[in-house]
Amino acid sequence: MADDLCFFTKDSFVFKAPKKSPLVLRMIVLVFAMVCGVYICSICLKQISTTATAGFLNVELTERPCEKPNIEPSEVRYVHFPKPISYSRAECACNPVRYFAILSTQRSGSGWFETLLNSHINISSNGEIFSVKVRRSNISSITETLDKIYNLDWLSSASKNECTAAVGLKWMLNQGLMQNHKEIVEYFNTRGVSLIFLFRRNLLRRMISMLANSYDREAKQLNGTHKSHVHSPREAEILAQYKPSINATLLIRDLKQVEDTVAKALQYFNSTRHTIFYYEDVIKNRTKLVDVLNFLKVPQRDLRSRQVKIHKGSLSEQVENWDEVLKTLKGTQYESFLHADYQI
Ligand SMILES: *[C@@H]1O[C@H](CO)[C@@H](O)[C@H](O)[C@H]1NC(C)=O
Ligand SMILES: *[C@@H]1O[C@H](CO)[C@@H](O)[C@H](O)[C@H]1NC(C)=O
Ligand SMILES: *[C@@H]1O[C@H](CO)[C@@H](O)[C@H](O)[C@H]1NC(C)=O
Ligand SMILES: *[C@@H]1O[C@H](CO)[C@@H](O)[C@H](O)[C@H]1NC(C)=O
Ligand SMILES: *[C@@H]1O[C@H](CO)[C@@H](O)[C@H](O)[C@H]1NC(C)=O
Ligand SMILES: *[C@@H]1O[C@H](CO)[C@@H](O)[C@H](O)[C@H]1NC(C)=O
Repeated sequence: MADDLCFFTKDSFVFKAPKKSPLVLRMIVLVFAMVCGVYICSICLKQISTTATAGFLNVELTERPCEKPNIEPSEVRYVHFPKPISYSRAECACNPVRYFAILSTQRSGSGWFETLLNSHINISSNGEIFSVKVRRSNISSITETLDKIYNLDWLSSASKNECTAAVGLKWMLNQGLMQNHKEIVEYFNTRGVSLIFLFRRNLLRRMISMLANSYDREAKQLNGTHKSHVHSPREAEILAQYKPSINATLLIRDLKQVEDTVAKALQYFNSTRHTIFYYEDVIKNRTKLVDVLNFLKVPQRDLRSRQVKIHKGSLSEQVENWDEVLKTLKGTQYESFLHADYQI
């Protein structure tokens, strides 16, 4: 037994000897772990202290309300100081922002009009947001989308590095606007949104543009790509080569339908702060843009667009069955559409 024990101790001694160096190793690992722990703790503390100060700063910012600019009392509801969730407005935080929406119909120059507005450093118009169906599927997704835009949380190519003074979108009448007009008017009035209606006077020209555009959607005349707007005279020339044929039987009915929709929209949204512009007027007289900027209460600036008009010149050159169209509209309330009303 003693022998056994002795053997055991001897044995253990024999085993322990080589364990001496792992002990040192263990100590090194322990010290290393401690150093790591202290390092991680110090980083955590640092982060906690920075978020704490950031939170403190935020509280300080939100607690100090921005001074309302010196404006008439009736204007106050149209002036906003949005606080985006996705970033800080920093030095722009107290720059007042106006909310707007461009209400229009397809092929009425609103794309061109919007590029003009977006050339202003303080205007951000986010495009046809409601062309995407889910965003207009019901009033709650509509208001949710609008909230995000007007809170400056909608990031698009129209977002500006400069201080935004007017933010909005382009909205076609057939994109949920007419169906949900009651709730949308209420939203516009409670949130203080100003409306710019942009319509086309010559609905026959608009119809030609619609037909040509839908033809190009299939034909893709520009090297296999479909373009609704172009930036070079050569591209415009290629697209204008196509002459649509207009269904004379449906012509009057179709023109009337558009006219009625426009009249109805003006009636529905009559209680909002709004203004009406016509594409032809802006084309003929660029000074009209001064009125647009005044309406949005943003500083006057030169506005530019790189877009080139596709259909120009005489209408009779642009329609395949011109004689038929002429015969159909002569003597009707739409006869004036037959005459070229502007030249470029
Ligand atoms: C509204 O539409 C969105 C998106 O289609 C959907 O997720 C949501 O459930 C709908 N809400 C109501 C109240 O119908
Ligand atoms: C327009 O943007 C500039 C540059 O950020 C800014 O200095 C100016 O105050 C802005 N104007 C308005 C009316 O917000
Ligand atoms: C089509 O592609 C050719 C060759 O790349 C180019 O020279 C021409 O300008 C393009 N045309 C248009 C309308 O973009
Ligand atoms: C015009 O439209 C009517 C009604 O949809 C249709 O019956 C007729 O075939 C069309 N005419 C032409 C030339 O396409
Ligand atoms: C809008 O309201 C004004 C004043 O109430 C009225 O004179 C005008 O005719 C209305 N316009 C439409 C299109 O309903
Ligand atoms: C052009 O538009 C401006 C601003 O609306 C207006 O004052 C001016 O009279 C217009 N000029 C012409 C020639 O119509």
